Amino acid sequence: GLRKKEVNVLCLGLDNSGKTTIINQLKPSHTQAPEIVPTIGFNIEKFKSSSLSFTVFDMSGQSRYRNLWEHYYKESHAIIFVVDSGDKLRMVVAKEELDTLLNHEDIRSKKIPVLFFANKTDLRDAMSSVKISQMLSLENIKDKPWNICASNAIKGEGLQEGLDWLQEQIA
Ligand code: GTP
Ligand code: MG
Repeated sequence: GLRKKEVNVLCLGLDNSGKTTIINQLKPSHTQAPEIVPTIGFNIEKFKSSSLSFTVFDMSGQSRYRNLWEHYYKESHAIIFVVDSGDKLRMVVAKEELDTLLNHEDIRSKKIPVLFFANKTDLRDAMSSVKISQMLSLENIKDKPWNICASNAIKGEGLQEGLDWLQEQIA
């Protein structure tokens, strides 16, 4: 039969934003981890959608590991950037990391899609995805397709919508 197109996706964002929880939810249920722990370095996860075969580099967001991110920019076909909608204090740090990413020579010139998850919408003081778009100045991203989806990774809400969009951009 027809082989699915192989795509490398880089999953980035600050520690505790929910990257591993999101990726775990996107995997087939029989391969899902029962418990999520903070990522050390990075993990490689694989799953398939209807038309694509994804290899996800689930990076640690801890500051001491963020220098690993750039080593995977060259080979990535898409980026998932996760933010904790309840973490107002560190939204500026998330923006700094996003700006560094978008200005990196291996990313700057590439028209790869960037999917943002405004995660943890269930938190009582969660900011809206519109507010987060403003805080991250997403409207300034002109050279790449981007989208922001509100999500609750624990319940799995909003994740499929995001992945469907990403798939459309790549397929
Ligand atoms: P690092 O690997 O350290 O970079 O963190 P991470 O971004 O992979 O975060 P992880 O998936 O480990 O989740 C961090 C914590 O947030 C865990 O306790 C998760 O259960 C929790 N969490 C993830 N998504 C949600 C969500 O949508 N809502 C709530 N309330 N908690 C969430
Ligand atoms: Mg993790």
